[in-house]
Amino acid sequence: MRADLQDLQYVCPDELQRDGYGAMISHAFGFPTADAPAWFERSGHENLRVVLSDRKVVAGLIMIPMGQFFGGESIPMVGVAGVGVTPEMRGRGVAKWMMSMFSDESRKAGFALSSLYGATTRLYSSVGYARAALRARFEIDLHMLEPLRVPPGTVTTQVEGAPPELRALYTEWARSHPGHLDRGPGLWSRVVSPRMQVTRTFLVHEDGRLTGYTVVSHKMEVDKSKLQAWCSVATTRNAVTAILSIFGSYGSVAPTVTLFGSPTHTLLSGLVERHHKVDVPWYLMTRTLDVSRALTARRYPRSAACDLSFAVTRSEATGLPEREAVRLVTAGGRAAVRPAEAARISMTERAFTQLYTGIRSAKELHGLGDITLASPAARDDLEALDELFRGPMPTLPDFF
Ligand SMILES: CC(C)(COP(=O)(O)OP(=O)(O)OC[C@H]1O[C@@H](n2cnc3c(N)ncnc32)[C@H](O)[C@@H]1OP(=O)(O)O)[C@@H](O)C(=O)NCCC(=O)NCCS
Repeated sequence: MRADLQDLQYVCPDELQRDGYGAMISHAFGFPTADAPAWFERSGHENLRVVLSDRKVVAGLIMIPMGQFFGGESIPMVGVAGVGVTPEMRGRGVAKWMMSMFSDESRKAGFALSSLYGATTRLYSSVGYARAALRARFEIDLHMLEPLRVPPGTVTTQVEGAPPELRALYTEWARSHPGHLDRGPGLWSRVVSPRMQVTRTFLVHEDGRLTGYTVVSHKMEVDKSKLQAWCSVATTRNAVTAILSIFGSYGSVAPTVTLFGSPTHTLLSGLVERHHKVDVPWYLMTRTLDVSRALTARRYPRSAACDLSFAVTRSEATGLPEREAVRLVTAGGRAAVRPAEAARISMTERAFTQLYTGIRSAKELHGLGDITLASPAARDDLEALDELFRGPMPTLPDFF
């Protein structure tokens, strides 16, 4: 460790240190310091961490405990927000050191994964995070939306917030959408109360059963009115029609509706023409904190039975073991994992995370040099890995 980092301490802040973190992070992100206490309160004071140098707060972060769906299961994941270092201490490795302390602590606490949106990719790559899921934004031109007729028997109602039946439908939906978050109360409040927006929730029922919903905000901005849908789920064709018709009904005042999530969102199946734009301004970055735990927590295709060994390697001083070698045996959709003596395949931790989340295939990662084979015979293992982790593109609608 560099000499000027040796006296640093990583702690959960007391009240005074919290104020120091508030003053530092509000300046780093450019918001009023007076807004920091409410953010910390919502996040839970026990989830704040700061770095002290000579008893002064020089850096900090916020942990967001939650789950993330992969292989149909909610994998214990800790999100990270509010990463900042005071300007006079930047460029000395403080953020990197803080992230290594955070990784060590989070692995010990039982989290298998950690995910975040990075303002800079380089910082988080240097401590083992890899691009692992997409948050697409798409904009549907409401003027071009075909007139939609909601079939009789499909009932749309307006409610407040996110009632339990809506949360249950989201969770069922998220289970089959890799990368989606298993939301805690903080993330739900971001969906129904996004910053500076007021939302309305519309539920779609068919035969008394909830089949879809959308949470929208509508705000007059400088020159036009802005309609945004923060979370939309549609599990049937009628639910797609009902939700698109809600959007369309704003068309006399709002030119477009903006949605977030998968670039192939089910709602797009209801658009006859291509009167929408999709872009991907955000990548979620993920680090695997514990390879064995991540492997045993998820499910696998029932048809994929395998017995293979591989080693995952990490850079020095990033807070986690430099090598985890595992023997992975899968049957009936579940896995048993043991430490392995010898491994036929070796991969970087970023390659493992990208394979695990399904954003890249084993063959692709091998081509990029991030997976290496001990012998040509191990080529078959690449195919076996691809069968295990194959799935839809990992995506999510949330930002945190
Ligand atoms: C980004 C920030 C946290 C970095 O803190 P830091 O202590 O200077 O970072 P470190 O010295 O530990 O740098 C670690 C790595 O990140 C890279 N890095 C640091 N700041 C960077 C930046 N702004 N852009 C790109 N890369 C950056 C470093 O080059 C280094 O990479 P290397 O290991 O490959 O050489 C700090 O500049 C900051 O607080 N910025 C304002 C708030 C912010 O942007 N927070 C991030 C929100 S996700």
